[in-house]
Amino acid sequence: MADFGGQHCAMDMSIPAAGLKSALFSDSGVSDQSRIRSLMEDVFRRAEDPPNTLDDRVSNLSQVLYLMYLARARKATRIAEIGFSIGFSSIAFLESSPAAQVTSFEIHDETPAKSAKEFIDSRYPGRHQLVYGDSTQTVPAFQAPPTSDGFDLVFIDGAHEYPSVKADIANARRLAKPGATIVVNSMTPWFKWGIGPTTAWDEAVQDDVVTPLEHVSNAVAVSRIRGPIARAWAVGQFR
Ligand SMILES: C[S@@+](CC[C@H](N)C(=O)[O-])C[C@H]1O[C@@H](n2cnc3c(N)ncnc32)[C@H](O)[C@@H]1O
Repeated sequence: MADFGGQHCAMDMSIPAAGLKSALFSDSGVSDQSRIRSLMEDVFRRAEDPPNTLDDRVSNLSQVLYLMYLARARKATRIAEIGFSIGFSSIAFLESSPAAQVTSFEIHDETPAKSAKEFIDSRYPGRHQLVYGDSTQTVPAFQAPPTSDGFDLVFIDGAHEYPSVKADIANARRLAKPGATIVVNSMTPWFKWGIGPTTAWDEAVQDDVVTPLEHVSNAVAVSRIRGPIARAWAVGQFR
């Protein structure tokens, strides 16, 4: 399996039997599933070198659908994500609305990311920006257009070590509008790659940086995340 920011994950293209469950939107997703799945397969085919398989890649269909509906429900059109990989979450955000503009920060500037970027530019011309480099350097250095009043939504899914996630949350907040939506991936402290994101998120809540909105476990909102599920993320609002 591939290693993305210390994360080894299998691709899961299944949707929970219960469908996506969120307090923030209603799941009207059945008709979107095949389109999003097909886009994920297309970008994977474009980006990936053999012998990797789709199973080596991160993000699953239910998370991509969740992110798309979340961005739509929150009316987010200026979106930043830290951790592009081969662009599944970028596709989620770009599919959320024709008005969505996405800025991604990614440390790896190798063929998979570059090929995925070409795919995204061909499908969503002029709507995606990719900034290469270590997000702890590139996010603070990022110059937003003078007309921009900040990002509406940020997705933190880059390096998974605690100091990096802590810095990513703080740096993203400086680029976000007050009240912007924040999603932190990998709230799975029973895996080593989940310890940093979970600790950084808990501190952001304790420090009143973020108001939590919901926790999501395998695309179903839950009052408390319990292990050992594979995927969980937290959604909140910057204060
Ligand atoms: C879990 S993957 C992102 C998956 C992507 N968000 C998606 O949903 O398809 C994590 C990505 O973060 C990138 N990454 C790791 N450390 C980073 C850093 N310090 N700055 C920017 N990107 C980083 C990795 O190269 C990897 O592509």
